[in-house]
Amino acid sequence: MPGVSLTINDKKVRVPAGTTILEAARELNITIPTLCHDKRLSPFGACRLCVVEVRGRKNLPAACVTPVEEGMTVLTESPAVVEARRTIIELLLANHPLDCLTCEKSGNCRLQDYAYRYGVKRTPFEGTRDQLPLDDNNPFIIRDPNKCILCGKCVRACQEIRGQAVLGFAFRGPATRVVPPLDVSLGESDCVFCQNCVAVCPTGALRDKYLAGKGRWWEFQPEAVTCPFCAN
Ligand code: FES
Repeated sequence: MPGVSLTINDKKVRVPAGTTILEAARELNITIPTLCHDKRLSPFGACRLCVVEVRGRKNLPAACVTPVEEGMTVLTESPAVVEARRTIIELLLANHPLDCLTCEKSGNCRLQDYAYRYGVKRTPFEGTRDQLPLDDNNPFIIRDPNKCILCGKCVRACQEIRGQAVLGFAFRGPATRVVPPLDVSLGESDCVFCQNCVAVCPTGALRDKYLAGKGRWWEFQPEAVTCPFCAN
């Protein structure tokens, strides 16, 4: 079949041209950690946690946005990759509250999962972000900007799944934040409560208000429901 052949962790795979390294790895059941990637959303390449080693290249490309090439040899857990991922997690934790004991998202948090997976128990970096107030006046969603890792999934979900633009990036450098237009609260914004942003958030930055304080996530039973607002 036409396509591109490559080797990932000593396993050969053939995939259509244009496939990313991340997608090719998934064909082989090789898991590459991701924070900003979601196959329903446009590629973003922001978190860099999916970096991999490609033989012959000096840099570590992000697997989620790098297309495969004929004859490529990829390593997804080489010492250089693991070291880079550990540093990325440490940098994220520098500005992240370490309240996992009481965080509603504990046990269902991708950042926590990867810190565990890569043995990151503390960070040598000092955060620069100011403590920001909790945004709690939306009837269905709690927004904690201190837990946002700027992966942009909520921004893309709002635009690409719901067709709204309630969340976007604002400010610059270390002050960069995801906020509603004009930095109003979520309750004052045009939010239609679809919760797509909550569903894709990898940390506790966007949470379901109804579930807050009612138990740990593993105590809940999932139920299929029809959203009364968007019928999705
Ligand atoms: Fe690839 Fe975030 S998952 S850069």
